[in-house]
Amino acid sequence: MKKEILTKLKENPSDYISGESLSTVLGVSRTAIWKNINELKEEGYIIESSPKKGYRLNQNSDVVNAFEISEDLKTKVLGRNIAHFGKIDSTNNYAKKIALEGCEEGTLVVADFQTSGRGRLGREWNSSDKKGVWMSLVLRPDIPFEEVQIITLAASIAVVRALKEVAQIEAGIKWPNDIIINGKKVCGILVEMNMEIDRINFLVLGIGLNVNQKVNDFPDELKDKATSLRICMEETLDNQKLLKRSELIRAILLKFEEIYDKVNSGAFEEIISEWKKYSVTLGKEVSMTYKDKQCIGIAEGITRDGKLIVKCEDGTVKEVLSGEVWVRGLLGYV
Ligand code: BTN
Repeated sequence: MKKEILTKLKENPSDYISGESLSTVLGVSRTAIWKNINELKEEGYIIESSPKKGYRLNQNSDVVNAFEISEDLKTKVLGRNIAHFGKIDSTNNYAKKIALEGCEEGTLVVADFQTSGRGRLGREWNSSDKKGVWMSLVLRPDIPFEEVQIITLAASIAVVRALKEVAQIEAGIKWPNDIIINGKKVCGILVEMNMEIDRINFLVLGIGLNVNQKVNDFPDELKDKATSLRICMEETLDNQKLLKRSELIRAILLKFEEIYDKVNSGAFEEIISEWKKYSVTLGKEVSMTYKDKQCIGIAEGITRDGKLIVKCEDGTVKEVLSGEVWVRGLLGYV
């Protein structure tokens, strides 16, 4: 019933629709309409009620659920099956669980709030309620496990493309997959793999995108490293569009599906060449720990399967697959 009411409210975005006409069209009592409207409000929809005129859906509602994400979703596979939670420990954990139980490829797990959101290198990921997009996708790609890094690069490209389309924001990528705006991190990607000796069983691609935070919503230690789309848009006065998390999720799913098709068809060069266009790492001075030694050098390139090529001060050239790489000028590395 809630879906039907929402559909009716969305058909008339600027007009009120009376409880009486909703009850006639949908064939239920006015009390049932009133109860369902209240439930929708509890789910986060802003519904204006007027005793004389009826109900109207406020266009500023920012609600994430399967109904909102699926509406007008153009993907073939990704996000066709959705599990949404108001609160969960980590969407990656849940995605791993259902992947082990055999859920279909492209299943999307999304939450408003994560109590134990995880980042790369065992870090915590700040995932406060309704402030960002906290999502995980179950993937079963047709690639050898050594090439899994290409998925993270592909996902970062998808996020950059989605931000451009939905928010008109030009973001960059810090190797391998931090999305950067104005020198700060707006989005992180965590890929976790379940494999057998020679093949990938499944991957969980977790994406955490900061959307609605204000500066003071971030803990002190993140304030000079993290940003959100809202902060960036407030800084750009000509860009005051209201962002909706469901719209961002849809755009990320669609952009990622386009690139994921290229992953599965082996078109890695195309992916790498697009990644290079957005890179804020290549050509820059970087600092990293390589085999327990600190190394400073210049990020000179990237291999076909996504390793960063660094020419170190001692003249050696290293290919880095994982770990932390600091880029001078970004995320507090000066
Ligand atoms: C990083 O940059 O360190 C990666 C952050 C990944 C965070 C996302 S939020 C959704 C998914 N669930 C998690 O617990 N982590 C990822």
